Amino acid sequence: MIFFESHVSFVITYLIINFPGFAKPNQFETIPLTNFTESASAIAHPNIAFIKYWGNRDHALRIPSSGSISMNLGGLITRTQVSFETGLENDLLVLNGGLTSGNALARVSALLERVRAMSGIQLFARVQSENNFPSGTGIASSASAFAALSLAAASAAGVQLEERELSRLARTASGSACRSVPAGFVEWQAGKDHSSSYAVSIAPPSHWSLVDLVAIVSREHKFTGSYEGHLLAGTSPFQASRLKDAPKRLDICRRSILDRDFEALAEVVELDSNMMHAVIMTSSPRLQYWLPATMSVMLEVSRWHKTGIPVCYTIDAGPNVHVLCESEHAGEISKQLTSLPGVLEILNSHPGGAARLESNPPDD
Ligand code: PMV
Repeated sequence: MIFFESHVSFVITYLIINFPGFAKPNQFETIPLTNFTESASAIAHPNIAFIKYWGNRDHALRIPSSGSISMNLGGLITRTQVSFETGLENDLLVLNGGLTSGNALARVSALLERVRAMSGIQLFARVQSENNFPSGTGIASSASAFAALSLAAASAAGVQLEERELSRLARTASGSACRSVPAGFVEWQAGKDHSSSYAVSIAPPSHWSLVDLVAIVSREHKFTGSYEGHLLAGTSPFQASRLKDAPKRLDICRRSILDRDFEALAEVVELDSNMMHAVIMTSSPRLQYWLPATMSVMLEVSRWHKTGIPVCYTIDAGPNVHVLCESEHAGEISKQLTSLPGVLEILNSHPGGAARLESNPPDD
């Protein structure tokens, strides 16, 4: 009997050493794997581009054809929690309270794949993301969403990333998201490859009390997303001259921010917005984001500017108009905007801080 038991234990030891998989059923019994969770929560702001990103030199990695400059939109927030959990059979995305699949989940999973590759973690994640601003109001929520997701996912996976590395990671999911990583006024250095293409802060939020009054003229979702727009940019005969002139506009914009020179900023911001929309309207096939109310707001803002009011407009890939001014003029301009026909709502935002973990205090 004793011989039999020692013989059995020898056979089991042999099997465990030579065939590690043999021991697995026993491990599942003893380790409470279903309770394993690594989680983190992060916050990021959307941003409005003063000099815009439109067109890539590398679509897969989102390396842009030119640099861009933006301001983070303080007060508007995406909050994202990521939990890597055992027992999940795929990544889960809960967006503004609703379980979401399709393209949105695929983009989230692609970013999580990168984080899994960096960390060695092999678990799927539950992602819960909420905006404090209404969706479909022309605020680019993908920028704040992917900046917050990058930070929360890296942190939950135990990967420490410097700001630049985080900006690069966010860029791979949505180009403009790389600009929601650093604080305040931000420049995305186009670069030539993955390592040289990231965003840096050029001035903190406290540098200049600019205000972005977003005149909402439509809450409809745009029918052509920016991804398709970037693919088409090169088909416009105007894109080449837009890109050639970009370094000059970037210099003027950067300088006007550093000098707090509103007039210089206003001129280059409107020029750049009009140039991007000229490319959009002349690509093949043609795109068109403006509505009649978009034009009415643009024309009114230009009229006010001519009468000496320091104000200007810029428009992203949608119909809503971002109206920029210094804080001292914001109350009056907001009142005037509200009274314009077709304007449904005004969102009011000031320069915002960097993406941050919920456990860290805000810097704006
Ligand atoms: O980052 P994307 O792919 O959502 O593209 C952003 C495009 C614009 O908002 C129109 C311009 C910009 O620089 O933010």
